[in-house]
Amino acid sequence: MTAHAYTHTQPLLTLDGIAMSFAGELILRDISAQVLDVIRPGMQQGQVVGFYGRSGIGKSVLCRIMAGLLVPTAGTVRVGEGQQAVAAGRVGFVQQRYPLFDHRTLLDNLLVAAERKHAPADARTLTESYLERFGLSAHRKKYPALLSGGQRQRAAIAQQLLCSDHLILLDEPFSGLDVAMIDEVKKIIAEVTTMDELNTVVIVSHDLVTTTALADRLWLLSHERDAATGAPLPGATISPQHQYNLAEMGLAWHENVEAEPEFTQFVEHLKQEIRGS
Ligand SMILES: Nc1ncnc2c1ncn2[C@@H]1O[C@H](COP(=O)(O)OP(=O)(O)OP(=O)(O)O)[C@@H](O)[C@H]1O
Ligand SMILES: [Mg+2]
Repeated sequence: MTAHAYTHTQPLLTLDGIAMSFAGELILRDISAQVLDVIRPGMQQGQVVGFYGRSGIGKSVLCRIMAGLLVPTAGTVRVGEGQQAVAAGRVGFVQQRYPLFDHRTLLDNLLVAAERKHAPADARTLTESYLERFGLSAHRKKYPALLSGGQRQRAAIAQQLLCSDHLILLDEPFSGLDVAMIDEVKKIIAEVTTMDELNTVVIVSHDLVTTTALADRLWLLSHERDAATGAPLPGATISPQHQYNLAEMGLAWHENVEAEPEFTQFVEHLKQEIRGS
């Protein structure tokens, strides 16, 4: 176990007192979390953070709030160096079911995304480099329906990187992928974070092992219990003991961290916490 040197500086994403109800049903309650710029000496280091929680707890709802697509019942989301209120379209968002335009080829899907942010000539150059980098060059002329699940997913991640600023949200990026493809997506995420100091990847997932292996910060969503009755309280939240700094714990930025005993112990601890929640 090695704890690499780092410092935390300015905030890049701030969730402050988020609550969400649908038709009077409280789904999320008083959620606060802050992603800070991670600085590692002599390196360009973006950040990867993870939000965990059981199925149905409200992870995708939280994602839509972080992406500015859903207005929370209470609380605020602020993004970027300027910490401005989030607006739809500023944050890259790869949804749990990653949609592409089915009537356009893969190449055109990416070009449309790139041209939202870049001049046409730059958009083309960037799109070419992403196709290459994501192993999709050979499939550029295919329509999305002809792509495999993993290819679609990589295309969706590339699309969001091409058109958004530094923040990208991935909702269940590993679901439905085989082991080799999970490794591929992991590599891409790691690569994204070395492209720019401010790049921040937020992974929302119930895949504990994979998310923990990639993240430098983690938050666990759970239902707290009523102290008197032991009954779960409505609305999932992040309890103080469920905020983890993996960089400080010496579990971040290790090549093969899954093989380390401390990593296994920590994942076991998380499982216990989830079972008890
Ligand atoms: N628009 C909506 N109206 C009413 N209820 C909703 C709406 N969107 C989500 N919900 C409810 O909010 C809860 C949380 O849903 P969400 O999709 O965020 O779960 P999740 O943690 O992402 O689950 P999974 O791990 O299965 O993807 C669910 O009970 C869902 O039915
Ligand atoms: Mg979900």
